[in-house]
Amino acid sequence: MRTPLVAGNWKMNGSRASVKELINGVVAGAKSLSGVDIAVCPSTIHLADVTAIAAGSNVAVGSQDACTELKGAFTGETSIEMIKDMGCQYAIIGHSERRTLYGESDDIVAKKFAVVKAAGVTPIFCIGETLEEREANITEDVCARQIDAVFAAQGDDAFAGSVIAYEPVWAIGTGKTASPEQAQAVHAFIRQHIAKHNADIAENTQILYGGSMNPANAKDLMGQADIDGGLIGGASLKADDFLAVCQAGL
Ligand code: PGA
Repeated sequence: MRTPLVAGNWKMNGSRASVKELINGVVAGAKSLSGVDIAVCPSTIHLADVTAIAAGSNVAVGSQDACTELKGAFTGETSIEMIKDMGCQYAIIGHSERRTLYGESDDIVAKKFAVVKAAGVTPIFCIGETLEEREANITEDVCARQIDAVFAAQGDDAFAGSVIAYEPVWAIGTGKTASPEQAQAVHAFIRQHIAKHNADIAENTQILYGGSMNPANAKDLMGQADIDGGLIGGASLKADDFLAVCQAGL
């Protein structure tokens, strides 16, 4: 049985004060929740505050990205070693906003995936199709291409100890959620695609759904056989909503 994981992606939101309030609320509410893995991914500048408050709790912390390089002259970047040193257990890699707004190619994302894994941090590897791609009926091809870039770089066991997040781009921040059936179909495809390389890893990998998941739709989505939790944007910015999604994963 795969334990569900609910991860909050806070994106570029919050002040020091509001983020401290949010993590305090999440930590307090998460105490009574067992049987679900919980993580939050604040902006890099807030990692120190958030990891300090979450220390010793059942709320893990992750970054929203990591540099392809480990150190040196890369102005503005943050290395996975720094992220790990800050107490992070996860790093989101290849979020569609990074891919589309900052031009991250499949190859760059695969390189980031490799450095995160090598550092012993769990990558939350994001994939998903745009509306245009869904309408052109190439959702599976796009997901396979994004996954195959990692297999090409890392071999058959690439996804051991990692998390995959299927996030249809058209559902992110739009209020349009994939139906549970639509999401399940892609999740099953992703698992089968990984199983072609290693069936055990496919069986054990948490595959999260992301894209306008909220307390109202979380239970139906997470009730699907291959949906093992969620990557939550908007609804993770209020402790009560986020905790309600975590609860739905139980
Ligand atoms: P959303 O974002 O929940 O606001 O749609 C999800 C994500 O981008 O990870």
